[in-house]
Amino acid sequence: MPKTTIADLGNLTGKTVLVRVDFNVPLDKVSGEIKNDRRIRGAIPTLRALLKAGASIIAMSHLGRPSGDATKDSHLTMDRVAERLADLLGKPVIKAGSTVVGPDVTAQAKAMTPGDVLMLENLRFDPREQKNDPAFAAAIAALGDAYVNDAFGTCHNDHDASMVAVPAALKAAGKPRAVGLLVAKELEVIHELMSQPKAPVLAVMGGAKVSDKIAFINALLKKVDHLLIGGKMGYTFLKSTGVSVGSTIVADAELAAAQPLLRYIGTKITLPVDSLAAKSDDFAVTKVFEGDIDAGYEGVDIGPKTLAMFAEKIRNSGTVIWNGPVGWFEKPAFSKGTKGVAEAMGHCQGVTVVGGGETAEAVEQFGYAEKMTHVSTGGGAFLAYVEGKPFQSLARIDDQ
Ligand code: 3PG
Ligand code: MG
Repeated sequence: MPKTTIADLGNLTGKTVLVRVDFNVPLDKVSGEIKNDRRIRGAIPTLRALLKAGASIIAMSHLGRPSGDATKDSHLTMDRVAERLADLLGKPVIKAGSTVVGPDVTAQAKAMTPGDVLMLENLRFDPREQKNDPAFAAAIAALGDAYVNDAFGTCHNDHDASMVAVPAALKAAGKPRAVGLLVAKELEVIHELMSQPKAPVLAVMGGAKVSDKIAFINALLKKVDHLLIGGKMGYTFLKSTGVSVGSTIVADAELAAAQPLLRYIGTKITLPVDSLAAKSDDFAVTKVFEGDIDAGYEGVDIGPKTLAMFAEKIRNSGTVIWNGPVGWFEKPAFSKGTKGVAEAMGHCQGVTVVGGGETAEAVEQFGYAEKMTHVSTGGGAFLAYVEGKPFQSLARIDDQ
């Protein structure tokens, strides 16, 4: 059954809406600056629509994975995120007090007038957030008259109070719960992608670990005509087929995880035919290997022949779904493969969908985000939704 959307909430004049967003953005390790604000931009349409409907907004998110030691976690405060949100919204955002809930925050929430936006402190600064704690959830729920989930990137977390226990508490209080525009779009695009994709259907995968993505790969193999594998994961598969990967480190557990998928190689699964490899003791020295990689060299990107083959397949597909960079793209010298995949997808006339935090960052970095049908804001959530995993968070949203 379709879910309640923000349009169904009607006129919100004088109402306070609790909006769970996923502003878990990547931060620069040294400066603490926001490296990429895509997830914040993603929620702007929902926030604008709610403000237009007359609401005041309490926005809430987690940021990173706080250790519980306040001094070590200080860089994970929402201050910078609230500032960026204010810039993007073009209006002030009040940053709530240093505790997530409590008398000060309640007072700030009560003082809001239509059009005000309050951003709560990092939800994970309160250990109760990740325990679906009912008292914590009740304290948050009491701040608002309605709840909106626009946090697609966190929808797969079944134990986060703000995603599950909070909407449950709102229901108990007879208050409405809806999905935001971002979540609605993500669900629609991925659902269509998995239910009626336009043929031929191609998937491109990379990234580090096969073991984290087994369920995702199995779900894809049921839908796609072809799966191209590159990246670190590609070396796991190559090694499994007896190709020497030189000094590339491949864990035994990864080889074991890949084992059940080896039977698809040559039919559904296509592996790289060449690699760019760098000397382990001097990464400035690189060489392209066709087949076996020499000892002392590690694979860092797909090679030019592989890229040409991948690009041609991508351009001729009706649907392309991409998760995981095919090389170490953060290093400009090793970024050709990942950039080439993004470019080929940009030129594909079919439906192109990108998912996963790093992959989305790569597509943005290379300037192809606007050329894609959809760039998901989900990392783990994207994988889980493609797998068909039911989400407790969405079960807590009212049916229409
Ligand atoms: C994500 O980036 O995967 C989401 O924001 C959820 O964060 P988590 O992986 O720390 O639960
Ligand atoms: Mg995650």
